[in-house]
Amino acid sequence: HPLHPFLVSLPKTEHHMHLEGSLSPELLFRLSAKNNIPLPSPETDPAFSSVESLYERYSSFTSLDDFLHYYYIGFTVLVHESDFEELAYAYLSTQSREANLRHAEVFFDPQVHIARGISIETIVSGWESALQKVQKEGVDISAQLIPCFLRHLDVKDSERCLSLLLSGGFFKPPNPAEEKPSSRRLEGIGLCSTELDKPPSTWAHIFTTAKQAGITNTTAHAGEEGPAEYITAALDDLHVTRIDHGVSAADDENLMDRLAKEQVLVTVCPVSNVRLRVKQKLEQVPLRRFMEKGVRFSLNSDDPAYFGGYLQSVYCAVQEVFGFTVAQWAVIARNGVEGSWCGEERKRVLM
Ligand code: ADE
Ligand code: ZN
Repeated sequence: HPLHPFLVSLPKTEHHMHLEGSLSPELLFRLSAKNNIPLPSPETDPAFSSVESLYERYSSFTSLDDFLHYYYIGFTVLVHESDFEELAYAYLSTQSREANLRHAEVFFDPQVHIARGISIETIVSGWESALQKVQKEGVDISAQLIPCFLRHLDVKDSERCLSLLLSGGFFKPPNPAEEKPSSRRLEGIGLCSTELDKPPSTWAHIFTTAKQAGITNTTAHAGEEGPAEYITAALDDLHVTRIDHGVSAADDENLMDRLAKEQVLVTVCPVSNVRLRVKQKLEQVPLRRFMEKGVRFSLNSDDPAYFGGYLQSVYCAVQEVFGFTVAQWAVIARNGVEGSWCGEERKRVLM
């Protein structure tokens, strides 16, 4: 494509990538052996016969929950701080070089790790070491880690997790004298996992408590498999400032107007939507509608190791189908910077 070199060099932000979603089958088998964590036997699930058969299985997910089954098996092999550091380092260093990624906001799911006896501190420390290592190598990248509450577990589990996050001081700067935007260990919260029959309102008190504790950056997965009403509910009941996926918004004209008026950033994951059969084809992801309506969106990879590619391949796939102009790409890039949680100083550098 003639715009390919431009699309590679375009400075990028990514707001919707799950750290555990960057665990490749190769690393899954390697960590399973290293940490002595058995995977399901090939007799129970033939997908675990080899790296190749696992990739094959990943290419035919039938729904979000079908994917989440494999995704949470992947979690079990992540044990040591160095495992999380390796994941984070691979993502940050590869994407900064291959896709000119300049700012990343990366999700993780603490509840599932806590249930296995892995502390939040282990994950956050591994992440911080990786980021420092990449920055020491001279890469100009900023990045934040965002814990997500999980909808497939009872909301009481989210309550316990929020208590641990707050009592552990993760939303305070390591040095209180340094309080400024983006100086905290964790910069915000999200909500993810199973969506159908899990209305956002169930998590309203979690988001209220978080806000009272000074957490202002909030987002939620909404309108992926779920209806447009769940997006409205995320805005009204959770008061989130961002929406993850949000593709169902296109079914509700009033909601589209509201998203545009309130300048809510929608973190769209077009390739993920096709892989999880939210949409049959990339063409059906409502990027053109969003663009015409002035609904701000960024493009994201979601779970790149499971969905066949990282951020650059998402940009290329979108360009192949939507054929955006250089001016339109500039709007997408600018909206991504403006919707980031990195603070005004960093935004000026990224603009
Ligand atoms: N967790 C990881 N990827 C997800 C997705 N696409 N939707 C909901 N929860 C997720
Ligand atoms: Zn996601």
